[in-house]
Amino acid sequence: MKKTILFFINFILPISFCFADDSNSIGVIAKSEGINFGFAVNYNSLKNDRKYQDIIKKQATIIVPTNELKWSNIHPQKNIYDFSKSDYIIDFAVKNNIKVRGHTILWHARIPNYITDITNPNELKIQINEHIKNVIGRYKGKIESWDVVNEVINPPDKQPNGLRNSYWYKMLGEEYIDIAFKQAHKTDPRAILFYNEWGVEFDTNWSEDKRNKVIALIKRLKARGVPITGFGIQSHISSNNINFVNSKLDNFIDNLKELGLKVYITELDIKNSNNISNTDISLAYKKYLNIVLKKNKVDAVLIWGVYTKRKSDTYVLFDDSGNYNLNYFEVKNTFPYVNKYN
Ligand code: GLA
Repeated sequence: MKKTILFFINFILPISFCFADDSNSIGVIAKSEGINFGFAVNYNSLKNDRKYQDIIKKQATIIVPTNELKWSNIHPQKNIYDFSKSDYIIDFAVKNNIKVRGHTILWHARIPNYITDITNPNELKIQINEHIKNVIGRYKGKIESWDVVNEVINPPDKQPNGLRNSYWYKMLGEEYIDIAFKQAHKTDPRAILFYNEWGVEFDTNWSEDKRNKVIALIKRLKARGVPITGFGIQSHISSNNINFVNSKLDNFIDNLKELGLKVYITELDIKNSNNISNTDISLAYKKYLNIVLKKNKVDAVLIWGVYTKRKSDTYVLFDDSGNYNLNYFEVKNTFPYVNKYN
């Protein structure tokens, strides 16, 4: 009997969802709650897959290019930019009235060698400013928000204030963050400027330590007049650590809002790390969204990807043929209740 029920929940129910009516999309429902919803998208799928395009058009009010704006992708050699892929994604968004996030300017990964070969801090400042002028400048008025810095706190590196010992930090100290935000603001004064971070989601000591260091950094930046206006909570969650998502995340969002920042869930996905059922994965989505939407109301939620890759253990809202899965329906059902909790 138990087996029959499990078979129904895990196989029959999802298949029936594939044919279910979906006249109201998640994007439309979220928008009516004042929240943007969307996905990280990639150039190849967007260009070549009609079904993928249709999902974005129907479901998303905001998208973010997955890799196409990262430094090594867009600016692979000195003075040589490759805007072809990001242009395609951003043109698609503009044409379809979908907002775009820019991800990311300064990150410790995906830095080309011609940059890390620089040993003179002044020369590096010039390169950072040039890069920002060219990349943010090109999409001025088209990209609503930028991840100006990504993943800058990393206490295991044992640097003052928990800062990550990245190339940028080694060369310029904490000031690299100021430089990037100031130039970003100068280049596009209307863009919302984000610091995006992972590992701040859990009711654990290490996550609490990270959150404290993040808040302290934001306060220092604000005290120095750095134009930071948003904080992105990446939200790569697993079926194990969803159990540690609770009131601390709720309070953290309050703290960020008190500092006057927009708060986005920027990279939500759920990894099945302990072989739980599809239903339990969808309930993990539900639990996460109920916490971040409930009383604090984040301003946007983006899922990190559209299709769940066949061999991946990380689950998003569609299967690899573009059919809805259970997660889609749990996510969709969570949004209409946002206002009831406020
Ligand atoms: C970080 C980055 C993303 C992506 C993921 C890996 O979260 O911000 O751009 O590279 O790692 O999926």
